[in-house]
Amino acid sequence: MITVPLLDLGPQNRALEAQFEAAFRDVLRSNQFIMGPRLEAFEKDCAAFLGVKHALGVSSGTDALLLALMALDVGEGDEVLLPSFTFFATAGSVARLGAVPVWVDVNPHHFNLDLADAARKVSPRTRAIMPVHLFGQSCDLGALQAFASAHGIRVVEDAAQSMGARWQGRSTMSVGDFGATSFFPSKNLGGMGDSGLVTTSDDALAERARILRVHGMQPKYYHREVGANFRMDPLQAALLHLKLPHLPSYNCARAGNANFYHAALKGAPGVAENRPGAPADAKVLLPVDFSGQGIWNQFTLRVPGGRRDALKAFLTARKIGCEIYYPIPLHRQQCFADAGYRGADSVPVSEQLSAEVLSVPIYPELAAEQRQWVADSLADFAAGKAE
Ligand SMILES: Cc1ncc(COP(=O)(O)O)c(C=O)c1O
Repeated sequence: MITVPLLDLGPQNRALEAQFEAAFRDVLRSNQFIMGPRLEAFEKDCAAFLGVKHALGVSSGTDALLLALMALDVGEGDEVLLPSFTFFATAGSVARLGAVPVWVDVNPHHFNLDLADAARKVSPRTRAIMPVHLFGQSCDLGALQAFASAHGIRVVEDAAQSMGARWQGRSTMSVGDFGATSFFPSKNLGGMGDSGLVTTSDDALAERARILRVHGMQPKYYHREVGANFRMDPLQAALLHLKLPHLPSYNCARAGNANFYHAALKGAPGVAENRPGAPADAKVLLPVDFSGQGIWNQFTLRVPGGRRDALKAFLTARKIGCEIYYPIPLHRQQCFADAGYRGADSVPVSEQLSAEVLSVPIYPELAAEQRQWVADSLADFAAGKAE
């Protein structure tokens, strides 16, 4: 039987191994292990890639979000609109500052923030909105900007899963007051450890974030305010810098795999695209890139009718890796449910998606027979061959 891991980092990193070794030796011999020219060079090329003025390498995607919120003075009692259907860090960074996550529902077709629901939940205490460009698909950046300016609130884009994704030609991370991404190894630009990036095109905000990144220190050993150690290692920056030019081709290969799944499953009984008006009896719904310029960090199916866990077991028995992102909407996580934040009683799509989603392999180096095996297995399940 063909084995298909959900993600295999080996082939991508092996292809650049000699360059990684040379970069490691270069950093080792430089004796510069904190900040410095290697980090700055990486930041400069990230800023150019994203079309922003400033990019700051930081210790993780989580810290990127936290630093952005700190630089915007989001704090005690401020409300922040964000989706309940996302990874924990989006809301965790808000709660850590004593601010209040307000749960906004998501769209059942593209999984991103539902701005109509955000409009119902905005209040005089709302300071910011944090859209998450989930699974590699940008939300509607124009609508997001219009919403934020209509309500006079700040935008921190959680682009942890979407570096390189665009909406009508504009990059995620280039529209908000801040953008934040993650180089966690499973991201499209994956590092060898933890790190992340903060972006902004506002000089004053960039300067504030730079100071907060080093304990609020400026000049050396003088602290006007309390920051933290949010720095990215130059070794990590040097390694990621080698991968950055390959990011468009990684993203393209992922899109090729997504297109293959759609083509292979077109017309298969029980399979439909996850669009408005999809047949109510579809057993497997395929994700659609409504933006047309997504980067497919995940290929996330919907499996309605209480059959998701059966598909997971079916694929696992066929040695196909799959994972539920995310099984519990954030408003139900114990740490947040106990706090009783607003909006928890009106996020039905987030509840539904947590019960229906399943992500299957989409990584760039999938072999032809591997993706064929995934498509055949999905077709078999949708045709009722699992029973
Ligand atoms: C949507 C989202 N936000 C934030 C993060 C946090 O990034 P990191 O793991 O680098 O802290 C992640 C990644 O895991 C994520 O997927």
